[in-house]
Formats: sequence, C-alpha cells, structure tokens
Amino acid sequence: MSKYESEISRRRTFAIISHPDAGKTTLTEKFLLYGGAIAQAGQVKGKKNSRTATSDWMEIEKQRGISVTSSVMQFQYDGYCINILDTPGHQDFSEDTYRTLMAADSAVMVIDAAKGVEAQTRKLFKVCVMRDIPIFTFINKLDRETRNPFELCEEIEKELGIETYPVNWPIGCGKEFQGVYDRNKKSILHFTSNGGAKAATATEVSLGDPNLDGLIGERLHAQLAEDVELLDGASCAFDMERVRHGKLSPVFFGSALTNFGIEPFLEDFLRMTTPPLARTAGEQVIDCMEEDFSAFVFKIQANMNKAHRDRIAFMRVVSGRFDAEKEVYHVQGGKKIRISRPQQLMAAEREIIEEAYAGDIIGVFDPGIFSIGDTLCTPGKKFRFDPIPTFAPEHFSRVRPLDTMKRKQFLKGAEQIAQEGAIQIFKMPYAGMEEVIVGVVGTLQFDVFQYRLKNEYGVDLIMEGLPYEYLRWIETEGEEPAREDELTLPTDAKLVEDYKGNQLLLFSSQWSIQWTADRNKNLTMSEFGGAKF
Ligand code: G4P
Repeated sequence: MSKYESEISRRRTFAIISHPDAGKTTLTEKFLLYGGAIAQAGQVKGKKNSRTATSDWMEIEKQRGISVTSSVMQFQYDGYCINILDTPGHQDFSEDTYRTLMAADSAVMVIDAAKGVEAQTRKLFKVCVMRDIPIFTFINKLDRETRNPFELCEEIEKELGIETYPVNWPIGCGKEFQGVYDRNKKSILHFTSNGGAKAATATEVSLGDPNLDGLIGERLHAQLAEDVELLDGASCAFDMERVRHGKLSPVFFGSALTNFGIEPFLEDFLRMTTPPLARTAGEQVIDCMEEDFSAFVFKIQANMNKAHRDRIAFMRVVSGRFDAEKEVYHVQGGKKIRISRPQQLMAAEREIIEEAYAGDIIGVFDPGIFSIGDTLCTPGKKFRFDPIPTFAPEHFSRVRPLDTMKRKQFLKGAEQIAQEGAIQIFKMPYAGMEEVIVGVVGTLQFDVFQYRLKNEYGVDLIMEGLPYEYLRWIETEGEEPAREDELTLPTDAKLVEDYKGNQLLLFSSQWSIQWTADRNKNLTMSEFGGAKF
C-alpha cells in the first residue's frame, strides 16, 4: 500500500449526536485524552454553563473560537487519524446537524442511562437515518443509578426504529458499577477508578474465572450470568452489513466521566466504522482513493473572530490529497483558486496545514465566494457533488431594522447569515428593501439571528411573527414570473421571492395549499425547491 493509500485508509470521520447534557462533550474530551491530543480533562471548552439552550448558544457565540473548536477536531489514536464532528444538541439546529452529517461517515449517539431516549435524541436520530450511515450508541453515566439496560435497548428499538446489538453489557450501576462484559471476547473488564487520571485501570477476567465472585460480588455475578443468557437468546445476530446501513446499532455501555469503558468503546468503534465513504456527483461515484483531489463545502461560519470579520468555509475532502501549494477548481464559481490559510483543528488549537487527505475536514478562509454544497476539485475535472438539501422553513417573521439608517448593515448581515444556511430570507415583490421575511426551521434560530445582527452588525431589529407554516416553490419553467394580482390566493397566503429570484408561496395551512391548487389550474407548486426536502 502506498503512503497515500495508507493515509486515507487510516482515516475515520464521525459525528457525535446527543440530547444536551447526555455527555457528548465529556466523551469527546476522553477520546482526545486517549489520543494524546490534550493532556488533561477540562480542556475542551465550549461547554455551557447556563440552563436554557438559548443563552447556551449565545454564551458560546460570545466565545466564537470555542464553539468552532468543539465543532471539528482531529486526533490520532492507535494508528488511526480521527476526525470528530460535533453537532448542536438542540433540535432547532437539526438542519445544521444534517449538514454536518453529510461530512461524516458514521455517527455516535450518546444516551444518558438514567434518561434513555430524550426529545432531542429522537429528532437528531431521524436526521441521522436520512443519511443511511452507521449509528453507534454509547449509553453513558453508568456510574450513577440507571434504568434497566434491557429496557434502554428496547426503548431505542421502539422509539427510534433501529435494532440494537449490545457489544458489551454493564455489570451493576451507580456505586456498584463494576465494569462491562465483552460479549465477543466473553470476558469481563473490571474497572478501578483512579480519579481524573487518563485511564481507569481495567482488569480483564474471563466469565468462568473462579475468582469472579470475589471481584464483582456474588449477586452481580449471578445477575450477569442471567443477563448474558437472556442476551444470547434474545438479541439479534451481529450483521455488519446492517450496521453499515444504519439498520442495526452496536450498543456500548460506560461512563465518560469516570473513564469506564471508554477505551474499549473507542477501539471497537474504530474497528467497526468505515474508512472514508464515497460521495456521489450525479451519475459519478467519487471514491476516496481516486487520485484527484475533490471536496465539498458543508458549513460556513462567519465572524468567528469578530475583530477580523472572517468567514470560514468548512469542507470535507472526498478524494485524493489536498496540497496547499496547488490550485483547485471551484466548480460553482467557475474559477481556479488557491486556498488561503487552510486550517485544521486539533483540540484547542487551530493550525495552518499543508496537506490533508480524503476523510479530513479543513477550514478555509472564505472571502465570500463559497456557498453550502459547493464542489472543489482538481482543475480539468468538472463534476458537482450532489447538493445538500435544505429543510423547508416552518416559522416566518417579518423583520426590519429599528433604525432605518442601518438598512445597509441590516441587509448585509441578513444575507451573510442566510449564506451560512442558518436562516432563509425572502423579500416581498414591490416592497421596500428595508424589510425581509426570515424563515427558520426552529424558532431558536430567530433568537440567534437577532442576537448576531446586534452583536456582529450593530443592528437592532423589529421582528413580527407571521402565521405561515408551509412553503411551496412556484415552478415557472421559463415563463413570466407570477404576479400576485394574477393568482387567486386565499387571504392567508403570500407570494414572496428568495434571493435567487425564485418565487414562492407561503401558507398557514395545508388547506389553503389545496384551495390555491384548485383555483389556479396553471400554477405548478412544488414542495422541493431544487434539492429541498
Ligand atoms: P453534553 O456535551 O452532551 O451537553 O454533556 P456534557 O459532556 O457537558 O455533560 C453534561 C453533564 O453530565 C456534566 O455535568 C458532566 O460532567 C456530566 N457527565 C458526563 N458524563 C458523565 C458520566 O459518565 N457520569 C456522570 N455521573 N456524569 C457525567 P455538569 O455538572 O453539567 O458539568 P460539570 O460541572 O461537571 O462540567
């Protein structure tokens, strides 16, 4: 195997999802600790210290660098080069999660063992399923009193509609938590806590060991024997093919805080998850091992450093090797460009890089030329990766600046934030330019929008909620655009335009969509604008 091939095949790129507080940050931190990327716990910042998700986000936003640090990280472990993508825990940002998952090859779902499947887990999980990627489950906080592990697996199966395969099984919980039983090796990993040190001390003992009673106690030994019998009899067979397609989730138990079961989880997970997956570009499938470089933009984040008003485009390298010396072709822009200041994030550090391989995520300084979904490739090639779908907004507000003199900053800010994909903006034909309609998938995004316009652009807003909940694109196919007075619309519908000039209708009920369709026979409405859901 050439160096190039071995570099790519040792890459693993995955996203972590969880309901807030299940332990995603703690688990990530422990991974980094094992990988030697950080020296002690508590270095991965970006942790919230307030109760509500709103102030959470804002707190993080106030420390922009930090939220980025926790959004993509690379570290090395046991010969693997690992890229972890963090996802926002709140469901209002599930579109952001979806885009992040586009860059991942598998996902780790962290679940609090005392709480089981929570509201946000459900929503984020649905987003995961759309991607058809392997989903691994880590059931966390076994050092506390937990729910019955059988019940937890059953809940995952029932609520999320995915089969589970426990790879290991907990022995006791809370103060009695002794370790985990590895079903494949048929042995027990008995843990001894050693405070906040790098790793818990684990002793491997076989299930038949005569000293087991002394180690874990008679009662837990009997319980384990019973559980194992039940598991072997009841749980489905392990089928890697089904894991690959997100139909079967390997389940692991442990405690991120006390380091119990983290290293075995990381090892098994790395063994089971895939090297960089191919991506499609229309008819073509671009494999990671292809020699020519290609990548796509999946996230854009502006003003990470307020002083510099910078904007970073995050891209996933799909194939080949990225070489900072070489020019690349930006397909949507139709231009050859040199990528300036390509960077990668290593735990708390950002560093400028010279090269990256398929599977890696790089952050690139964006002078305002990139959009989400854009393709970059070796000059001479011209394919486009399949677009990243946009979620149709479900909440709308009419927005204008409080101070009309701030119109320019207002429009610039709104457009830039829309380019990041955090919101969608629409204008009303013939209306003044100082007013836009903002559409979002989750209402928390309104707060974020308002906060950012004030903080980053110095604009206070007047926002007025609108009753619309549905959006339909009007398909004109080269004909004259529709005019409001030519359409027969119910009173609760509105004709708007997006910033690409597409026309859309906003409705407040399903009923009005049907009403409009019935009365405007020449009107073709579509639920999906381009690649939209
Ligand atoms: P998140 O990123 O998913 O939102 O969760 P995070 O890791 O921040 O963990 C949420 C809380 O749960 C933290 O406590 C963390 O210490 C705790 N936690 C994580 N893993 C475990 C575990 O295995 N066992 C136990 N007992 N607790 C765990 P906090 O009090 O909110 O924060 P902190 O003051 O400890 O930093």
